[in-house]
Amino acid sequence: MKKKLTTVEFRGTAEQEAKLIAVIEKYAGVKGAMMPILQEAQEIYGYLPIEVQRIIADKTGTPMEEIYGIASFYAQFKLNPNGEVAIAVCLGTACYVKGSGDIIDEFSKLLDLPVGSTSPDGKYSLEATRCIGACGLAPVLTVNGEVYGRLTKADVPGILAKYQA
Ligand code: FES
Repeated sequence: MKKKLTTVEFRGTAEQEAKLIAVIEKYAGVKGAMMPILQEAQEIYGYLPIEVQRIIADKTGTPMEEIYGIASFYAQFKLNPNGEVAIAVCLGTACYVKGSGDIIDEFSKLLDLPVGSTSPDGKYSLEATRCIGACGLAPVLTVNGEVYGRLTKADVPGILAKYQA
């Protein structure tokens, strides 16, 4: 699934940037270090905004396209921050065959939010995940880490209502 770039405003701190620079310096001259740099950058910021990718590009002398290519290709990297209500729908095989595709489409429709993005006000994020190891409850999703299972798309409005206060 193609990832979407966020429209949520980037709010990195000087402290986060100092940590990021320290990570980049730690890997200076190490071959194949881009994956661990991006992983550690994501630990620092929670996701990989374009501003952070740009710092990494500048400091490592790596073309932006290359960094963006890696960040957008691997499912482990997030281009968007979690929303206050972070919805993650499993599209692993067991969930998919039990209709999780319909469920994620329903969230997308009701929230008017493309999969893989965060609403501009930062309230909701919607993402597809791989198997989260709860296949017995398929189809499964989490909202802010809380697991919901054995769902149909008819359950989606009720789940949203719980978080709409
Ligand atoms: S495939 Fe969805 S939890 Fe395993």
